[in-house]
Order: sequence, then C-alpha cells, then structure tokens
Amino acid sequence: MSDGTNTRRGFLSFCTNCLLLILGLLVVAPAVAYVWAPLRRKRGDGGSGGDFVDLGSVADFPLGAWTLRALELVQEDGWKKTPIRHSVYVRRLGGGDPAFEVLSPICSHLGCPINWHPERKQFVCPCHGGIFADDGRFKSGPPPRSMDLLPFEVRAGRLRVRWQDFKIGVAERIPVTA
Ligand code: FES
Repeated sequence: MSDGTNTRRGFLSFCTNCLLLILGLLVVAPAVAYVWAPLRRKRGDGGSGGDFVDLGSVADFPLGAWTLRALELVQEDGWKKTPIRHSVYVRRLGGGDPAFEVLSPICSHLGCPINWHPERKQFVCPCHGGIFADDGRFKSGPPPRSMDLLPFEVRAGRLRVRWQDFKIGVAERIPVTA
C-alpha cells in the first residue's frame, strides 16, 4: 500500500467519525433538553407569586363598578401542567394612581367566596355573614381582616393582575407561597 492510500483512508475514517459524532449530538441533545427543561423550571404558581395575567383592555372595565373576572393560571410541576382558574373583583377608578382596585374574593375567615351586592354596596360572605364595605374594608362578622388586595399593573392599555393566596384565619395579610 502506498502512503497516499493510507492517508486517504485515514482522512475518510476521520470524516466518518466526525459525521457520526455530529449525528449522535443531533439525536442526544434534544432528548437531554427535553428531560432537563422541566426540571430547571420553577414550580408553577397556581398558589401564588406568579406572573401577571392579562385581564383585558382598561376600557373593558366600567368606571366605578365592581366586576368579577376570571384569572387563569397554569401550574407546572415537572412535566405536568394543571390549569387553575381563580376569580378576582376589579373596579376601575376615575384616573389617578392607583387606576384600579383588585380584590381577592376569598374570605379571610374560612375561605368562602365572597359575593358583591351592588344594591347594598357591600361585599357579603354567604358562609357566616361577614360583611365588607364597597372598597373591601372589613365591617362586621367573623372575618379577621379586610378583603385582600391583589397586585396589578397597567401596561400598553391593558390590566394585568397577579394572583396571590393569603393565609386565612389571621388578622395579618400573610402571603402563602406554593
Ligand atoms: S368564611 Fe366568610 S364569614 Fe366565614
């Protein structure tokens, strides 16, 4: 065999190995990324402390009136995704800062959903008769504190709200993390 043949054979062998290595990486890399990505992701925020969720255009909210809006989250736990739906009370204020009030409907007594009664201009908890003023302040009954305000932001003319759970049965407003 000539040196030229050996050199050509060595070069072809080198090229073949490189090609196999590249093909191997193309097969393995996506599989590793698929397995690794959910593990790196933070646990979902179906409970609290997550991202702001778009609730619609500012103009969709009537001035000075409470409306109940759905707020949908996706709780991620590894590969499992669970949709979670909350409700929030929203009232657009007449300009100024803050432009909105956003309240959690969860009663601080035992966690029942609070109802808005426009004719009485009061929030009333149907479970044990807790009563709150039209800005969510505690008025009477067993709840230990006022209704919980939720964080919001107005961005590009749209209202975005962040869901937060709070500890029930206590006077302090203590955020509950997932
Ligand atoms: S749960 Fe609301 S008053 Fe008891």
